[in-house]
Amino acid sequence: MIPSDADYRRAVKLLRAGELVAIPTETVYGLGADAANPAAVAKIFAAKGRPADHPLIVHVAGHDAVDHWAEQVPDVAWELMESFWPGPLTLILKKQAWVPDAVTGGQDTVGLRVPGHPVALELLRRFAREAGEHAGIAAPSANRFGRISPTTAAHVAEELGERIPMILDGGPCRVGIESTIVDCSRGEPVVLRPGHIAPEHLEAVLGRRPAIETAQGAPRVSGSLAAHYAPRTPLRLVAGERLLDFLNSQRHRGGVCAVIAHSQPPQAGMPHPWRLLPADPVGYAHDLYGALRDMDHTGADLIVVESLPGDAAWTAVADRLRRAAAGAGQG
Ligand code: TXA
Ligand code: MG
Repeated sequence: MIPSDADYRRAVKLLRAGELVAIPTETVYGLGADAANPAAVAKIFAAKGRPADHPLIVHVAGHDAVDHWAEQVPDVAWELMESFWPGPLTLILKKQAWVPDAVTGGQDTVGLRVPGHPVALELLRRFAREAGEHAGIAAPSANRFGRISPTTAAHVAEELGERIPMILDGGPCRVGIESTIVDCSRGEPVVLRPGHIAPEHLEAVLGRRPAIETAQGAPRVSGSLAAHYAPRTPLRLVAGERLLDFLNSQRHRGGVCAVIAHSQPPQAGMPHPWRLLPADPVGYAHDLYGALRDMDHTGADLIVVESLPGDAAWTAVADRLRRAAAGAGQG
């Protein structure tokens, strides 16, 4: 899944012309536009059906671009970049005055990230060569607003296919859930969205565990809306020890369930579509969105997800599942 030279050229040409290009990253696919071009950024919101006051993450090729986009960057932010970039970490920093409101949702901060994906990095480098040394690509996840984030090029096509001129295929995403977001614009770093980089990884760099502040319904971080990452089919979390009883009772009522489990394989003779995901949080995150998408397509009345272990390592996937449950069944 290595794009050709012609693919990269076409992607850069489209971005330079103010068009959208879906791009692979290590977390999820992004819907990219030239971050310095408000008219191009506006097309992202139109394609996603996303409210315009939701800020976007600007993806850049390297650390040297940071001062172009942000000011008053605290030491702690540089330390986090040193440790985790390129990688699944987004930093919220005070923005430079010129950064378009279209990107920041009118806030005085900007989200920045150097993605850890060779195709994204190659595209960013080529784009910066033509559009200006520190040019960036604004990109939210490449899904319709509120829906499951795409982790393959085929998912993007399913979500946005006719609405965008190009999907740059970089294969399946390595991480599978969105980046960890850390706000460094207000003094002490605060985690706004948990992700693959867990609190203990941040603690190893910061020397202390950062506060986590994932407000329900606040527009600062759209992924923090209670209903998000949602399939069209209703979704319910059920404890592992109650799973079989629950499925039997649903079956007696005539309800068709699709199951996503991590500790129990299906029993012989069970009629349910059943996905057994890895029982570790990293493997689980990698497969989760694809599994939700597949189960959404089975025609089941209810997606039943086995509840996750409560320990800290599962925080990020537990967060996504809670929001998926809150938003499910509204399509
Ligand atoms: O892994 C990711 O972060 C992916 C890939 C494509 O990079 N992107 C992604 O974008 O998840 P999106 O738009 O779906 O989520 C980005 C989150 C949003 O919740 C947005 O509100 C928040 O980042 N964000 C961006 N800029 C912000 C800012 N200045 N202040 C607070 N939150 C911000
Ligand atoms: Mg998103």
